[in-house]
Amino acid sequence: MDSLVIQGGTRLRGEVNINGAKNAALPIMAACLLTTEECVIRSVPDLVDVRHLISLLESLGAKVRRDENGALRIKVEDESNSLADYESVRKMRASICVLGPLLAKRGSAEVSMPGGCAIGDRPINLHLRGMEALGGSLSLASGNIVADARQLQGTDIFLGGAYGSSVLATANIMSAASLARGRTVIESAACEPEIVDLGNFLNSMGAKVSGHGSHRITIEGVEQLHGTDYTVIPDRIEAGTFMVAAAITNGELVLKNCRTEHLMAMIDRMQLIGVEIETVGDDIRVSSARRLNPVDVTTQPYPGFPTDLQAQLMALLCLADGNSIITEKIFPDRFMHTAELGRMGAVLRKEGPTVIVQGVRELIGAPVMASDLRASAALVLAGMVARGETTVLRVYHIDRGYERIEEKLNAVGAQIRRVKE
Ligand code: EPU
Repeated sequence: MDSLVIQGGTRLRGEVNINGAKNAALPIMAACLLTTEECVIRSVPDLVDVRHLISLLESLGAKVRRDENGALRIKVEDESNSLADYESVRKMRASICVLGPLLAKRGSAEVSMPGGCAIGDRPINLHLRGMEALGGSLSLASGNIVADARQLQGTDIFLGGAYGSSVLATANIMSAASLARGRTVIESAACEPEIVDLGNFLNSMGAKVSGHGSHRITIEGVEQLHGTDYTVIPDRIEAGTFMVAAAITNGELVLKNCRTEHLMAMIDRMQLIGVEIETVGDDIRVSSARRLNPVDVTTQPYPGFPTDLQAQLMALLCLADGNSIITEKIFPDRFMHTAELGRMGAVLRKEGPTVIVQGVRELIGAPVMASDLRASAALVLAGMVARGETTVLRVYHIDRGYERIEEKLNAVGAQIRRVKE
């Protein structure tokens, strides 16, 4: 497994282009199973998770290729296999987003039940409830969810769970309901920009989705969907990560190709911390040369502060001038990075789903272990400001969600070396 060796203490300066959003691209790619016509999807980042989903779609009978312009071209040619096996789901939990499209289009699906995960319990009860509400009959065999339905039937579905709405359950049900008979209303739907993007994508295929972006989504089922040409939204989590990169190194970055409106909660916290943010069209200029104020932050469903930026913001707050309180309301155990930041001299105390961050004057380089995608990003950010050398081990996690992160950071002044094992 590769590691990243980071020399701390450099200031980042320059321009960074933000990629298309991983979490928008994955359910959109899965939704290509809803038609046998070709779908062209632009701005899909070249990530390990995207490659996993490409392999899964190929095993499900799709021909997938990247054309000379970098667009993904997906065309289903054989609908005989509807099994997403343990191997593919084990590699990537988001493989669950093929369940809805397969059931709706092929009338049956067999998807391995996802197991445990480094960021805590991740049940899929809401996905299953949604499929059953649409008329799917579900059972469990050898660790696989086996789903059958001759014709899905539109219905009203309440999708609220113990921790609020679910992004991928909303995606699965929206996709499946597009080919159901009649009208489906999803109440307590996720409002994340990635769900809006999926709704827009489905509509570009001929679906009738409305209300996406609100808590109530209505889908009028249609008989069939057609091919399309669609561009995925920019990645708000990659943008937020680079905002922290600029701030933590006292640097100045211009982030190109952002959607400011998707980043309001992050921008709000950064400004309270004392980071300068200036937005011009699709660009965000981030600079910081001052001391950092402590802040309190609670992760919430969109438009609240995203859980996918919690670890990165924690790395920044380790250096604030006072105590910050971080509360995780989406994945209460998503704190594997605290112990590793502690190895670099951070002073953190975990109390249930809350971490109290006592600001310190400096972080000190150390070998640290990446546990999940966003935790890895937080450790790289901490390494860029730490005194001396930091080695982030098991960085395959970071490659799942950031395309060539060390090359992008080095291009604006970081000193990061990938060591292959
Ligand atoms: N939940 C349930 N039952 C379900 C599904 C979810 O109780 O059936 C709970 C979860 O345990 C959690 C909450 O609902 O407490 C929200 O989870 P959600 O279902 O929204 O998460 P997800 O759809 O599986 C996506 C992103 C995650 C991101 C979360 C929250 C993708 C591929 N993944 O996961 O992204 O953290 O939404 O915003 O879109 C990442 O990119 O690093 C990542 C983990």
